[in-house]
Amino acid sequence: MVNLYAEAYAQSINDPDKFWGSVAEDCHWYKRWDKVLDDSNKPFYRWFTGGETNTCYNAVDLHVDNGRGDQDAIIYDSPVTDTIIKYTYAELKDQVATFAGVLTAKGVGKGDRVIIYMPMIPEAVFAMLACARIGAVHSVVFGGFAANELATRINDAKPKVIVSTSCGIEVKKVIEYKPLLDEAIDLSDTKPEACIIFQRPQATAKMTVGRDFDWKAEMAVAVAQACVPVKATDPLYILYTSGTTGQPKGVVRDNGGHMVALKWTMSAIYGVNTGDVYWAASDIGWVVGHSYIVYGPLFKGCTTILFEGKPVGTPDAAVFWRVISQHKVKTLFTAPTAFRAIKREDPSALLIKNFDLSCFNYLFLAGERLDPDTLSWAENALKVPVIDHWWQTETGWAIAANCVGLHQFDVKPGSPTKAAPGWNMAVLDPDGNPIGAGDIGAIVAKLPLPPGTLPTLWQNDQRYIDSYLSTFPGYYETADAGFIDQDGYIYVMARTDDIINVAGHRLSTGAMEEVIAGHPDVAECAVMGVEDKLKGQIPLGMMVLNAGVERAYDEVVNEVIALVRNKIGPVAAFKTATIVKRLPKTRSGKILRGTMRAIADKKDYKVPATIDDYTTLDEIEDSLGKIGYGNRA
Ligand code: COA
Ligand code: AMP
Repeated sequence: MVNLYAEAYAQSINDPDKFWGSVAEDCHWYKRWDKVLDDSNKPFYRWFTGGETNTCYNAVDLHVDNGRGDQDAIIYDSPVTDTIIKYTYAELKDQVATFAGVLTAKGVGKGDRVIIYMPMIPEAVFAMLACARIGAVHSVVFGGFAANELATRINDAKPKVIVSTSCGIEVKKVIEYKPLLDEAIDLSDTKPEACIIFQRPQATAKMTVGRDFDWKAEMAVAVAQACVPVKATDPLYILYTSGTTGQPKGVVRDNGGHMVALKWTMSAIYGVNTGDVYWAASDIGWVVGHSYIVYGPLFKGCTTILFEGKPVGTPDAAVFWRVISQHKVKTLFTAPTAFRAIKREDPSALLIKNFDLSCFNYLFLAGERLDPDTLSWAENALKVPVIDHWWQTETGWAIAANCVGLHQFDVKPGSPTKAAPGWNMAVLDPDGNPIGAGDIGAIVAKLPLPPGTLPTLWQNDQRYIDSYLSTFPGYYETADAGFIDQDGYIYVMARTDDIINVAGHRLSTGAMEEVIAGHPDVAECAVMGVEDKLKGQIPLGMMVLNAGVERAYDEVVNEVIALVRNKIGPVAAFKTATIVKRLPKTRSGKILRGTMRAIADKKDYKVPATIDDYTTLDEIEDSLGKIGYGNRA
């Protein structure tokens, strides 16, 4: 078999202009680019400068113009509302063009920001594409975040309009979104000029006269808008992601590079073609949802599944198999945690036998480390290749993958295989020296990053440099540690910062600590990500109370748990905390989070020589034991 990967990889690194220039021919441009890679303002690299295009045109209209208007573009499958609705590309175009008219009627134009705070309903996708159509910049906020997090994003993005809905549905619970939106707007310094609210039958949102407008009423009178040419380097969206503090990072995505890279990944990485059915079981609030529920599959002219449900409980652990067989899904992409949830309910995978999965070719997993147990369970159950791949909100697409459309390598459990074309990876020691095959260090990517990755952080070039480019000059710091073996397989072991992955959701323990420290009785605290059989990791809080506080410990713990839920959101899954007398520290005052995490996870650990007092570790072992962690549980 010809190894197209080797050829593509070599060219992407040695002659990126030629490689990405030829990939870009597959997209529609109003004006061709002047330069493929523009490195005139290092370390800010830009792709396809001088080019003009439109993301929505490439995702929607192009397929209608090419005679594929009758093909399904979106299949909305919602077991929580017992609904299946299909939208052809022609119907999608109508919806999007009309909603673009709603936005323009509210004064939204090129470069204006629009926040979309919505669950997994088609209107959320229409809103994203409508922004792209008129050159506005969308920022989708995940529904599981609390009002305070939404307010932080409103303050940073300063949206002219917010698009939201009356509610989301979490298995059987109806979660009202509108009160959260109202609270967020109250909390924020910047107020939107208008909110467009989609009323769902499960809840009716109270509207604020003069500010809130009904989606359906606005659509009925809107004038459909055509696609507007934008610069390849203009921003398409901002997606906020957890940083090391309570202030999330606004990852920016451009129009041109994003479109070129994502369209190419559909065939090169995922092995799908125009007309195939592709399903990313994620949420549009995360990068996986942006790239692979919405943009990637639509650029490629696939049918994408918009699934409003969970892997279990909606109604049962067979729902993934039902969706695959009913809609003839060729490739499924989800997080390992979804498979752990299914495996827990149906350990022998008996439910699969009731479905014809002959259409199904590949399972792709990402978002967290794929544990070998889940990998082998999925391989045995599905009898198709199970492909781990590694990426981040910042990168927008896979850094490392088994690029099945180019060449299928053997799987090595624990590794997302090799660097994808465009990614020049290295492992460095703390001084920035490359380290040998198999040795653990900081995984970095040599600049420039390929197209589709973040060009900067929203209106914060300095934070972009400080966060990603300054530790190892000339490289992008992934903040993941791991190693590359002698065959070039990458192994991603752990984050080097305080980011944790809870059920495939990226969260900052630092942000949780900031919230907990705000409780009047808490003197200091530490939050760590400890191992969890279902969610991979969950946050665990250790708190020291102020001297003189004599309240019942349970009461304080419950208040702190409620505080994190109210300030960050239920998605943080912060449900475990304990009160200790002291936190273990080094003599210079650094809290030994890693040591406490090792104790909780029953791992071997070395007591740092710089510890200020050995007896604290004994106390920590006892406290963790009382809540079921560590050897003393
Ligand atoms: N709107 C409002 N609340 C939400 C929400 C949303 N969009 N998404 C999650 N939540 C809430 C949940 O209802 C839950 O609240 P609770 O504490 O009241 O029960 C909490 O946030 C945690 O949700 P979740 O992480 O989904 O955990 P879960 O226990 O409900 O379900 C899994 C566990 C494994 C089934 C689920 O996490 C899952 O399907 N994961 C797939 C991972 C995934 O899609 N990752 C995206 C990257 S690929
Ligand atoms: P997010 O930005 O939410 O996509 O989270 C990115 C982080 O998730 C990465 O930096 C990794 O720590 C982790 N991650 C994503 N995919 C993988 C994977 N395949 N293997 C190990 N870790 C992963």
